[in-house]
Amino acid sequence: MSEWQQAWPSEVGVRTVRELFRTAYDAEPDGVWASPGRVNLIGEHTDYNGGLCLPIALPHRTYVAVSARSDGRVRMTTDIGDEVWEGAISELAPGQVSGWVAYCGGPAWALREAGFEVPGFDLAVASCVPLGAGLSSSAAVECAVGLALAQLAGQRLDTDDDSRARLAALCVRAENEVAGAPTGGMDQAASLRTTAGHALLLDCRDGSVEQVRFDLASDGLELLVIDTRASHSLADGQYGARRAACESAARILGVATLREVTDLDAALAQLDDEEVRRRVRHVVTEIARVTEFVAVAEAGDWTAAGELMDASHESLRDDYEVSCLELDVVVTAARAAGALGARMTGGGFGGSAIALVRSEDAASIARAVREASGSRGLPVPDVHQATPSEPGGCLVEP
Ligand code: GLA
Repeated sequence: MSEWQQAWPSEVGVRTVRELFRTAYDAEPDGVWASPGRVNLIGEHTDYNGGLCLPIALPHRTYVAVSARSDGRVRMTTDIGDEVWEGAISELAPGQVSGWVAYCGGPAWALREAGFEVPGFDLAVASCVPLGAGLSSSAAVECAVGLALAQLAGQRLDTDDDSRARLAALCVRAENEVAGAPTGGMDQAASLRTTAGHALLLDCRDGSVEQVRFDLASDGLELLVIDTRASHSLADGQYGARRAACESAARILGVATLREVTDLDAALAQLDDEEVRRRVRHVVTEIARVTEFVAVAEAGDWTAAGELMDASHESLRDDYEVSCLELDVVVTAARAAGALGARMTGGGFGGSAIALVRSEDAASIARAVREASGSRGLPVPDVHQATPSEPGGCLVEP
């Protein structure tokens, strides 16, 4: 299956990140941890509205090799450049670091804020989660670093779902406050709280989760992840603007979050602004689609599941306005080539789409998608095949 971009097997990830650590610091790391990227099956831009979403963990993971230091200093390096950042652990704080240093170092700050005695450390990061592809490379690195540093501080946070939920919340804090991206929390939950073979039904109102069996193979189906390679950034204001519109609509409607809207027509009638009305309509209908998707998936009705994915894409494109030409082209091409359903996944404005396909059609749909983009002069997408994989954890014990 050379057409797919393969995820690294664990041993490749471990070897790669250890080598990077050795080259940078001329020493062996204490331990190695990893955490995955994700795709969301349905339930987009619902997390910060107290809604429902349904991500799976990808087999693509970010690996971190870490050693504790006794002098309160930090050194960090990644496989995206040969730069080594060096400073005091106290410098890893909001307003003091940015870019990759904020994403890698943010969890140290969030854990310290929560009372963990995080020592100084040396860190190397190597990842096969495509960067900027809307597959949560940011959450993958935060969660891998968070797992490592909590353990170096004397407390494992991967022993049960409560501790994983606690770490996920700390990683959200790191992303919001240190990296400055106002994201909602789905990605960190996906990276830490999923289980292999299942999608994670995450209720963002109370943080509760349910593992939903997601075994496409036994029904002769596959999930394709189509990375459009159109650049995507959540820190550029559009994401924050959507979130602010939802929060202001909730204030006007007198509810804590849009999750509390029970009568959509009545709510829309109370809103004057046409754009805000469309934003609210997306969120409320999308939350309902998650519940329906879980029901039809559990019943094995993949035709209905595909239709819900299509409806989700249309709502994100027309009402929420977070799609873009590259995403629309691959979604349309996948459907035309026989996908049961297709939609953008993640924050949007570029990044990736997913398509639910019959196994026998997977190769021809991947080809059709690449041709559709290429013939329009757009970047030729990378197509991955995704199966719901393991959440983050420790691979080499310190
Ligand atoms: C990004 C954010 C998530 C979520 C999605 C949209 O991935 O990080 O919190 O809001 O966008 O569903």
